[in-house]
Amino acid sequence: MSSKKPSKVIEGQEETEALVLGEELRPARWEEYIGQEIIKENLQILLRAAKERGGLPEHILFYGPPGLGKTTLAHLISKETGRAMKITSGPAIEKVGDLASILTNLAAGDILFIDEIHRLNKSIEEVLYPAMESGTLDIIIGKGPSARTIQLELPPFTLLAATTRVASVSSPLRSRFSGGVFRLEFYSEEEIEKIVKRSAKILGLKTDGSAEREISKRSRFTPRTANYFLKRARDFAQVHKQDLDQETVGRALKLLGIDEVGLSPSDRRLLETIAHKFSGGPVGLGTLAAALSEEEATIEEFNEPYLIQMGLIERTPRGRSLTSHGYKHIGLSVPKNLQEKLL
Ligand code: ADE
Repeated sequence: MSSKKPSKVIEGQEETEALVLGEELRPARWEEYIGQEIIKENLQILLRAAKERGGLPEHILFYGPPGLGKTTLAHLISKETGRAMKITSGPAIEKVGDLASILTNLAAGDILFIDEIHRLNKSIEEVLYPAMESGTLDIIIGKGPSARTIQLELPPFTLLAATTRVASVSSPLRSRFSGGVFRLEFYSEEEIEKIVKRSAKILGLKTDGSAEREISKRSRFTPRTANYFLKRARDFAQVHKQDLDQETVGRALKLLGIDEVGLSPSDRRLLETIAHKFSGGPVGLGTLAAALSEEEATIEEFNEPYLIQMGLIERTPRGRSLTSHGYKHIGLSVPKNLQEKLL
């Protein structure tokens, strides 16, 4: 086996999210991409205008909770514009030299996609600024008084980037995404149902409509989760020689610990911890993370967006609190102070 260090840039097919989403399910045309209509329209105008001018689309940043299709949009832009895309991520770029090598190896017109861009460190970000603004790479050679800067001309490129934590992207970096900063929204249940129907068709599954509905009800308004549930329900149906219907979906998801509104065991543990250990809150993120033995970032990125969207918890300046719905969901009676708030 080769002992070569893995490349910092991953070409198309090997990219990590693709393993979860399944390359076969990724939309390849605008017409196949369901939902996020406003973003789609803005992107189509941006790309068409750039093409008509004979130039490149400007740099674009996508943000929002995981699984909503940020990477998928980047792939779509690459496919629809016929431009090659190099894929990397914030944590994969460890040194200034890594970024310099990625940038100098781009061909004119390429797209560079940086996932988790909030994890780029400051000194690397500073190399990115002139690259984004004027297509130059400033490299410092030597140290101390004899250090000098040389400037390299880069091939013209478009940077697409994604983050789940836009507040952690510094404002100088954010402001350089001159093509736009787009926030992806949760999908509606109807949109998820359409996505699951499309996926079932691609996977060649025989369903009766009730399976798609049940999956979309529990999928946290998130396509990646919906496609994951569809595949697990397919496995369950196959192994137990059952039809892929609402009941089979229910049994498959029960086995995964997913409840009727799509909460995972870790979501429910979070609600129960706020209720039992912190009297319903408010509790600060750090304290909550310690009580759950979880990373703060995991709670913020994976659990909270959906719990807030569902109105089960509230985020206030003093911390996280359980709402009356949150209490009810875990089978507890709603405390007096929250009942009064409801009146
Ligand atoms: N798969 C993941 N996201 C999708 C979307 N928005 N439309 C269709 N299929 C998808």
